[in-house]
Amino acid sequence: MDRNFALEFVRVTEMAAIASARLMGRGDEKAADQAAVDSMRTMLDSIDFDGTVVIGEGERDEAPMLYIGEKVGSKKGPKLDIALDPLEGTSVCAMGLPNSIAVLAVAEEGNFLNAPDTYMEKIATGSAGVGIIDIEDTPTNNLKKLAEAKQCRVQDLTAVILNRPRHADLIQEVRSAGARIHLIGDGDVAAVIACAMPDTGIDILFGTGGAPEGVLAAAALRCVGGEIQGRLKPRNDDEIARMERMGITDPDRIYHTEDLASGNVMFAATGVTTGKFLQGVRFTNWGAVTHSMVMRSSSGTIRRISADHHFDRKPRY
Ligand code: FBP
Repeated sequence: MDRNFALEFVRVTEMAAIASARLMGRGDEKAADQAAVDSMRTMLDSIDFDGTVVIGEGERDEAPMLYIGEKVGSKKGPKLDIALDPLEGTSVCAMGLPNSIAVLAVAEEGNFLNAPDTYMEKIATGSAGVGIIDIEDTPTNNLKKLAEAKQCRVQDLTAVILNRPRHADLIQEVRSAGARIHLIGDGDVAAVIACAMPDTGIDILFGTGGAPEGVLAAAALRCVGGEIQGRLKPRNDDEIARMERMGITDPDRIYHTEDLASGNVMFAATGVTTGKFLQGVRFTNWGAVTHSMVMRSSSGTIRRISADHHFDRKPRY
């Protein structure tokens, strides 16, 4: 994959972030998400590539734009698969809370798991936990092993967990094990990345979130280093049928990082609201300032891009 695509794709997440950030704190999740989707769709078509959405806004009958299988790009150029979430953390953005991002990942054809829109149980860490964590082991044992690998005590570790009733027992166990907990309202892609970035103070993610988000998180970890393991958790017969339609025959399979995102991967994200490793969009009297990261698995280089957008030269915004 041409490395110059990195700058093209970060423009896409920048514009999606600006569009949805306009609606931050206005209590309208749908409008914020729609603004990000519209903007991301328009920007993708301005890039010379032959893209297919493999992780998107849903199946064709449920999403008018950026649905799974939708073709994007100018159709001139390489065939690439796209995994995207124009606004990851819609409700936190609508409430003006931290950690919403506009995000996408790109790989050569066939390298992302076609993950159904169901739940996935996940465990993830940064590079210190590679080969150490095990989704089949208890959270207590995973914490002990990670503490050993990081040469610290379990009490020094912070686990990030989505604040959901389904996680009551998990939260109780992590508390009993002695680790600190950072409960989040939404956004487990950013939470997984936080486990792998220095200075975020987050060490490990536990819990069940969206399966498509698992693929995006895996793409990020392929670039920044780290490990995610996931197991699909369908909630009803419809989701089981959906899994089967997407060719998943073993419902208990454990997916490792490379099963979710393999080959050469590129990942871009722009902060919508300020989080652990990206600042949110800030509007000024001349435009907006965005903070993004873009990275590739082949080089492992992480670029942090701060951009000033002058709206008088970008009339769309
Ligand atoms: P969206 O903002 O894209 O809707 O996802 C937010 C999110 O918090 C994900 O990060 C997470 O994987 C999933 O929703 C959890 O699902 P639920 O809100 O049903 O617990």
